[in-house]
Amino acid sequence: MAIRKIVTVGDPVLRKKSRPVVNFDEKLACLLDDMRETMDKAEGAGLAAVQVGILRRAIVINVGDGYMELINPEIIETSGEQEDSEGCLSLPGKWGLVKRPNYVKLRAQNRKGQWRLYEGTGLKARCFCHEIDHLEGILYTDKQEKTLTAEEVRRRRQGKDD
Ligand code: CO
Repeated sequence: MAIRKIVTVGDPVLRKKSRPVVNFDEKLACLLDDMRETMDKAEGAGLAAVQVGILRRAIVINVGDGYMELINPEIIETSGEQEDSEGCLSLPGKWGLVKRPNYVKLRAQNRKGQWRLYEGTGLKARCFCHEIDHLEGILYTDKQEKTLTAEEVRRRRQGKDD
């Protein structure tokens, strides 16, 4: 495994559409292992392959309740709405206030190519949407209602802990 370099905003690759994964081989396994290590090192909740410069539809997620790999994900159902702070490993030190569905159900392949159903609410639903947007070349800043300062994000998080 290896840490890969995370592409940051301004690099045109972040605006490109990722292509489906077609080969479920050793190269994909290596990419996923590297993405996991890269996400963990950066203390992120999610990472899309495009963020390490690979235009393939693969994402890794860990919102604190377990590690997930989603290949060729397709959202099949959403409901509700949530509004919260959101950041991105490709936009270090920045946050925005973004509306997302509160519930998301999707189907995706695992590293063996098997289709599975996944669902999540709250932060996990937010993360699904954020990472799948990356596969379309969309960044959260395209959808944010306003920019938040580090202080505002801290205050929002404190409020939540009460
Ligand atoms: Co991101």
